[in-house]
Amino acid sequence: MAIVVSEEPGTLEAVTNNEAQFDLVVVGHVDHGKSTLIGRLLVDTGSLPQGELEQVKAHCARTARPFEYAFLLDALKAEQAQGITIDTARCFFRTARRRYTINDAPGHVEFLKNMVTGAARAEAALLLIDAAEGIRENSRRHGAIVSMLGIRQVVVVVNKMDLVNYDQAAFDRIEKEYRAFLEHLGARPLRFIPVSARDGVNVAARGGVVDWYDGPTVLEQIDAFVKEEEQHERPLRLPVQDIYKFTEEGDDRRIVAGTIETGSVRAGDEVVFLPSRKRARIASIEAFNAEAPERAVAGQALGYTLTEQIYIKPGELMCRLGEEPARVGTRFRANLFWMGRAPMIQGKRYKLKLGAARVPVELVEVINVCDASGISIHESAIRNPQSAIDKPQVDRHDIAEVLLETARPVAFDLAGEIEQTSRFVIVDGDQIAACGIVLAEAESGPTLLERRVSQREENWEKGAVGAARRTAQYRHGGKFIVFVGERRERAVELARQLELWLHENGRHTYYLALGNVLGELAENATRRVMEREEQLLRLGELARMMTDAGLLFITTLPEADQHDLDKLRLLNAPFELFVVTVGETALAPEAAQARLPEDVKANDAVLILLGALCDLGIVMDYEI
Ligand code: GTP
Ligand code: MG
Repeated sequence: MAIVVSEEPGTLEAVTNNEAQFDLVVVGHVDHGKSTLIGRLLVDTGSLPQGELEQVKAHCARTARPFEYAFLLDALKAEQAQGITIDTARCFFRTARRRYTINDAPGHVEFLKNMVTGAARAEAALLLIDAAEGIRENSRRHGAIVSMLGIRQVVVVVNKMDLVNYDQAAFDRIEKEYRAFLEHLGARPLRFIPVSARDGVNVAARGGVVDWYDGPTVLEQIDAFVKEEEQHERPLRLPVQDIYKFTEEGDDRRIVAGTIETGSVRAGDEVVFLPSRKRARIASIEAFNAEAPERAVAGQALGYTLTEQIYIKPGELMCRLGEEPARVGTRFRANLFWMGRAPMIQGKRYKLKLGAARVPVELVEVINVCDASGISIHESAIRNPQSAIDKPQVDRHDIAEVLLETARPVAFDLAGEIEQTSRFVIVDGDQIAACGIVLAEAESGPTLLERRVSQREENWEKGAVGAARRTAQYRHGGKFIVFVGERRERAVELARQLELWLHENGRHTYYLALGNVLGELAENATRRVMEREEQLLRLGELARMMTDAGLLFITTLPEADQHDLDKLRLLNAPFELFVVTVGETALAPEAAQARLPEDVKANDAVLILLGALCDLGIVMDYEI
């Protein structure tokens, strides 16, 4: 619910379109004075509509209640009845410098979901702490989340200084403790300001009572926050949302679309897509129903054509050659705030959203858990083997440092470098379960899947008939043959043709359509990622058995990339893969054992494939 305080005509529109507009969020523990601070700011900057202040004061007098600045905000009846802010209330005000939108965040943790999902945005945060009460549970929680949302400009307002007689020692104690806490989470507050929101000390006017403080007032501070414009000067980060194809006859160009998070790019620039590491040059910038700018900058949602026709998928991150590239990996250390109803546990696949990428992710290890209700930190096996069993999971509302592993490589930055692409969200089922921030790359070592496969192999109980005996009898070895190609129907047709020939010529073969393993993939992109991963894993396990049984096991995996094949290869171990590409694919040419042109005749295709299988000694002999 929005409370529009400055109600001049056209304000709202101006607010959404105006460049000199800044989004702030005010957070803090219940009753630490968020609404009061904002009310005070509105009054002191003359942002209230004519007569509003008098009206609220008169209302208070009539109802024999002491006037509260918070009433100016808590304008909704229900809120006033409860005396607490129950929803994030937005209000608008302006200073000589620019317009502001302030989000008055209730002292409740749920509102943060709005920020995590992007329903609310903030470029800077004021964290309020009551000088008399000191640091409380939500002071920690909110501090952690603000840091995990990548809000870099954080200022701590130590409020109600009047209650501690403006005592510097009390202020210093809070600063010391809270600064240590925030820095542990990788957040660096710009400064701490001693304030009395009720008495208007250091809000808009400097208070003589705190002569030991010579920093800015809250108002000076918010005017000093830096606008995101400076993002233009940073390295390019463009998460690829979509790839559109021109459908005109004979035109095979594609448009790469997405919103630039940081940096800028223009036609002629060389770019690299991560994690695929494919390179291209920007041919043109395209806008939808508008003239395209010559230079695209942070915040702009545009399309790009490339001079080279490279095959990339949505989810990649476009960076500019010559600038610091993002990192690519499957393992990283991260801080996260867990909001899921069920705890985060090992051995379960969640979905990670980072930039435009959607990948399955697993918890490898809990490094430590910082319990917001206290300051206890549980150390994990890495640092302290004794307490490893203490905390093998992350509970609701825990702030934890964890080691995560994604099912395929993702591109990311680190906290403190480029926040936009170091931030992520974790989804459990259909629920947003966490927000987090990448702290560091982790050394690779064996992946979770590699460990599972080697364990499987160790425990594999063999039958009485070995591979050599089957090969001798069948006149071919077992092999997993995977057809890859952008045009699915073509790949399927050729795969089945091969199956037919092999069968008619007395070979042992079986064709399995991927959809048979787990049904059609969901339309929903969120579920699709998880289902596809599931399919791959099951297909790989099945292949292991089929090839062990000596079959020429055939499938099609139209969109497979190198990483998919590596995964199948791993799962199918100790047996190998035989990869056939049909026409255009995302694979590097050397990834294939046989390559077929898209318009190849079926008989020729079979001939080419048998030749290749024979060369590799998989099929002993053939005759057509
Ligand atoms: P929630 O919205 O419920 O989370 O609380 P809040 O953080 O918005 O606190 P609010 O502004 O409603 O203030 C809570 C109480 O603290 C009110 O009674 C205020 O009058 C009082 N208060 C706020 N600022 C000051 C201050 O600087 N000094 C003193 N003495 N009291 C203050
Ligand atoms: Mg409030």
